[in-house]
Amino acid sequence: LIYDAGDVTESLFEEIKRYVDFSAADEAALRSLYPVASPHFQRIAEIFYDRILSHGEARKALEGGESQVGRLKGTLVAWMAGLLQGPWDEAYFEKRCRIGRVHVRIALPQHYMFGAMNVLRREFNHVIDTAYAKDLEKLSAARTSVSKIMDLELAIMLHTYREDLLTQQARAERLATFGQLVGTIGHELRNPLAVMESSLHILKSRAPEDERTRKHLDRIAEQVVVANSIITSLLDIIRDVPPARDPVRLAEVVERSVRTAAPPEGVQLTVEGLSELPALRGDADQLRQVFVNLVQNAIQALPNGKGSVRIVGSHADGRLEVAVEDDGPGVDPETRLRLFEPLVTTKKKGVGLGLAWVKRIVERHGGVIAYEPVGRGARFVIRLPM
Ligand code: HEM
Repeated sequence: LIYDAGDVTESLFEEIKRYVDFSAADEAALRSLYPVASPHFQRIAEIFYDRILSHGEARKALEGGESQVGRLKGTLVAWMAGLLQGPWDEAYFEKRCRIGRVHVRIALPQHYMFGAMNVLRREFNHVIDTAYAKDLEKLSAARTSVSKIMDLELAIMLHTYREDLLTQQARAERLATFGQLVGTIGHELRNPLAVMESSLHILKSRAPEDERTRKHLDRIAEQVVVANSIITSLLDIIRDVPPARDPVRLAEVVERSVRTAAPPEGVQLTVEGLSELPALRGDADQLRQVFVNLVQNAIQALPNGKGSVRIVGSHADGRLEVAVEDDGPGVDPETRLRLFEPLVTTKKKGVGLGLAWVKRIVERHGGVIAYEPVGRGARFVIRLPM
């Protein structure tokens, strides 16, 4: 965040403060407004959230309902206190960026920020106009400083949206490069593998006497199949193969996946609520791959190969939901951010394609996958339209 503006090196926050000429006089005006305005904070927070709730579109952001609003009013009061008390330093900027990122995370459309700030601005101005009616100089200083700091807040909010956009762009570019590379390498490897396959065929047809030679020829043949299937998976991730649209019962798909994943002894695998689920339209083979991957990951995450894995199904609002949970250590916060990207893995022998592929298949079915742990252990939730 350090910008070199010619003769001075300053942070982004300092730079924008310089632009609006946010001075020591503004800081003083805000601080002296604090005791005057703070008795109104609770009331202003009520108005702020009433306005969101009475707005058909904006209120959709408040999924958590009344209890969330109660908590948010508290955070908004603290926000107003910070606004007038400062200190307006780098720690302030970072704190405000964190709030901005919360809004980015819930995908709050940016224009509501301006609308919401307008509500706050009006209420603050009203407090200022009433309190300083007899001291026009103070009134003007307070109005100016509040206007500056609120615009700075908006600037920070926009900054976090831009930050997010750049991250997404970088990710998309990485994926595009990855796709091209994988496509080329994958196709190039098919040829030598095909040559190996036909040579093996010839060698085998000569039926070598030696048992060990035969065994090794079989082993090479097996590994050629494995190599081919890795290439197929890779090409599958980058290509958009539309899934079949057959009626599929997830209970059957999961049962077959569990058989393929073959939980070893010491792993307790339970399946709940799947037989009650209605059928959906999809590709049974692709969906089976999804669950094989998730169940295998869950099994591999268990400490010392012991513990439980649960697959829980439910449905509501036209969506089917299946959660795969384990009681391993869960996913660390750093990996979580890039969990579904290709080439991200924590396994010693993994290439990091499993979850990227799973995500791709789920999305091709019009669904979403999320990592939503509750307490200990990993928990992946797949939501699919019926
Ligand atoms: C001037 C505008 C706004 C300010 C100053 C503001 C302030 C805040 C603050 C301080 C938090 C707490 C962040 C944290 O947990 O650390 C927050 C979270 C949140 N805000 Fe805002 N907000 C603004 C606009 C809005 C609008 C317009 C909406 C909805 C239409 C909204 C919805 C939310 C939601 C849903 C959360 C909680 C997200 C979560 O924790 O899951 N905010 N906001």
